Amino acid sequence: MKNVLITLFAIAAITSAEAQTTVSVQNEGEHVINPNIYGHFAEHLGRCIYGGFYVGEDNKVIPNVAGVRTDVIEALKDLKVPVLRWPGGCFADTYHWMDGIGPKDERPSIVNQWWGGYIEDNSFGTHDFLNLCEAIDAEPYLAGNVGSGLVQELADWVQYVNHPGGSPMSDLRIENGRKEPWNVKYWGVGNEMWGCGGNMQPEFYANLYRQYATFMTDWSNSSQIFRIASGANEWDFNWTEVLMRDIPNNMIEGVALHNYAVIEWHDKGSDTEFTTEQYFQTMVDAIDMEELVTRHSAIMDKYDPEKKIDLVVDEWGGWYETPKGQSALYQQNTMRDAMIAGITLNIFHNHADRVRMANLAQTVNVLQAVILTDEEKMLLTPTYHVMKMYNVHQGATMLPVAISDMLYFENGEDKLPAISASASQNEAGETNISLVNIHPEKSHEITLEFDSKGKVTGQILASDKLQDYNSFDNPNKITPQEFKGFKKKGSTIKVKLPAYSVVVLNVK
Ligand code: AHR
Repeated sequence: MKNVLITLFAIAAITSAEAQTTVSVQNEGEHVINPNIYGHFAEHLGRCIYGGFYVGEDNKVIPNVAGVRTDVIEALKDLKVPVLRWPGGCFADTYHWMDGIGPKDERPSIVNQWWGGYIEDNSFGTHDFLNLCEAIDAEPYLAGNVGSGLVQELADWVQYVNHPGGSPMSDLRIENGRKEPWNVKYWGVGNEMWGCGGNMQPEFYANLYRQYATFMTDWSNSSQIFRIASGANEWDFNWTEVLMRDIPNNMIEGVALHNYAVIEWHDKGSDTEFTTEQYFQTMVDAIDMEELVTRHSAIMDKYDPEKKIDLVVDEWGGWYETPKGQSALYQQNTMRDAMIAGITLNIFHNHADRVRMANLAQTVNVLQAVILTDEEKMLLTPTYHVMKMYNVHQGATMLPVAISDMLYFENGEDKLPAISASASQNEAGETNISLVNIHPEKSHEITLEFDSKGKVTGQILASDKLQDYNSFDNPNKITPQEFKGFKKKGSTIKVKLPAYSVVVLNVK
């Protein structure tokens, strides 16, 4: 009875006189949404690897498989993570992969110079990571050390993981217990070479890239090595221009881009206690992704009109101050983060022609994590739920959308579009439509126009307060619920989108 009343109330609300926004969805599309835009990133940073993924083989309290938490494996399998980037980030350009192979008690320790100077004992290394990827059925994406490593070192890493056998490095791998190669396809050639990767100028890095890329050999037919150049920081269009100009198209498969939603780098604000003004600023940065991918793609179009090279947004997400007493870059995850996830994934879908991989920073306990852990406890964040609701778009054909009569989120003289949308059609002919309303107060009526003959169902992620989050005391405060706030009428669907909510509709 309660559900019936809620439905009646929702439908009644839809008919009230309120400004309407129309989202028109085309019936056909050209570009497939690459599942890899649902990728993640895991760095040796704070409690991401140690405590987040890896608790050690000898841990008797936290259930694990070869030291990797079982609860995290299960959650990531459910999420359908297509690709996982490792070991950094800035850490990658200090990482010497040979330190992380062989018997664990014989591995050398190093100092993690970027993330707190703690002693890294290398107990989680190449085998651990690649086996983890197999366990969650994700493609590994290894970020090579260009900043402080050597060409030979990266070439050897490729040989170690990909050569079938009979070469020096593959024999070493076999000696270390792994007979079959992992056939790793995705390789980063350094990280943030304009910054922590070596403070290089783009011309210098482009030459260095050519050298490294030359020695990264395709050891097996199945791996088809895919080299990703360390890309631009946000608005540095010159970086992309120089890489595209100076690196021959047949030596590069992807160009990276990093963009975080940060209010101010010197004052990032609290993760959970933020004002409407701060929320607005976070949304400004998140929505910037639209202009960033449009402009970096336009540069790539000049040198690669056939769009053979991918734009890989291999670091994105919200970044706030770390709460006192927490490990490096740990932060809680509120409905604000759900908004970032919803609008950013819509942007990636709508740029499916060029954006073919993205990696949210970072999977567990760091930045906009999908999972948080506290000793044996684990919770799924609102961002996890958005990514799971949205994963119906993976591998589907993107259907272009047009939005008219936009609702705006106003802040003094500034304003942002409050409604974001994307749509796709899967192989079974079902259409999925993702809608986000970032407005902090106004619920809004949307008229969805498209050829909608089938049965409509929906899911919603919403909460009472924008600052709400899932805590270890209340881990299921925010979870997806069945959505009934729509009414189908001929070829249109009227949708009542609550303030700061994410909705995914499925039309069979
Ligand atoms: O994700 C945290 C850090 O942000 C990464 O190590 C680095 O690449 C970026 O600056």
